[in-house]
Amino acid sequence: MQELSVRHLLGIKDITPQDIQLIFETADNFKDVLNRPIKKVPSLRDITIANVFFENSTRTRLSFELAEKRLSADVINFSSSSSSVKKGETLLDTVNNILAMKVDMIVMRHSSPGAPHFLSKHIPANIVNAGDGTHEHPTQALLDSFSIRERLGEVAGKKVVIIGDILHSRVALSNIFALQKQGAEVMVCGPITLLPKYIKELGVKVETNVRKALEWCDVANVLRIQLERQQMKYFPSLREYTLYYGIDKKMLDSLNKEIVLMHPGPINRGVELSSDAADSHHSIILSQVENGVAVRMAVLYLLAQKG
Ligand code: NCD
Repeated sequence: MQELSVRHLLGIKDITPQDIQLIFETADNFKDVLNRPIKKVPSLRDITIANVFFENSTRTRLSFELAEKRLSADVINFSSSSSSVKKGETLLDTVNNILAMKVDMIVMRHSSPGAPHFLSKHIPANIVNAGDGTHEHPTQALLDSFSIRERLGEVAGKKVVIIGDILHSRVALSNIFALQKQGAEVMVCGPITLLPKYIKELGVKVETNVRKALEWCDVANVLRIQLERQQMKYFPSLREYTLYYGIDKKMLDSLNKEIVLMHPGPINRGVELSSDAADSHHSIILSQVENGVAVRMAVLYLLAQKG
């Protein structure tokens, strides 16, 4: 049986193109399961998974929880807003207490880049990074590529532009690694202040004009402005951002070609995407959410094989 090259999913940077293929093939099978009348398999019976979320989340937390339940795992949920972290407990102590309750796997979201990497060196459980600050969000990038593969047949050779707040986005970095590992061409587009200074060293194209970016691409993955991570002003106002970088249906229609429109959510409607663009036939935003469950099932299942 094929297996992953890693025992934790900390970032796309650490996994191989073969790992990505294996995750996708496994997710294809789980997607079939999810379309059956009985959407549940016994694969992770007797495995206990803790979802440890130190940062807000809707989609990712629900998607992991559903994936775990569809695999028949036992699930416990922890969110820092209602926990003893507020009383001064360290990350390691919090997690060790959870592990003392015999937990096999930890899915963690944390505002500090590297937090899941730190934990993986200190505890025996398998760890899945569900987003570490501005660093990586590997399962999001996997479900994004899986959705491109589903819509366009393959990822290799496709031109993908990531538009928006690249500087503060873990979705952007994980997507850049994932797309490049599969042989796609990657461009980033946004105001110069929201593009990291050394971004070109990652081997991506850089464009500040959104129309030119859309004319170039097969797929546009549009990101939210991460206002909660911005300590200073990177552009004059959201209105001005929308004026120069907002995408609407009129703009999409004027391209005279079909492009695939993606967004990891949550969308700020009327800022980076107009409602008529988000809800247009170009958009695969809800397919991304649907595929997220199958892809996360695949990741959890394959990591459980690694013990
Ligand atoms: C993203 C995240 O949390 O990094 N959302 C998600 O996981 N679906 C993107 C965002 O918050 O803008």
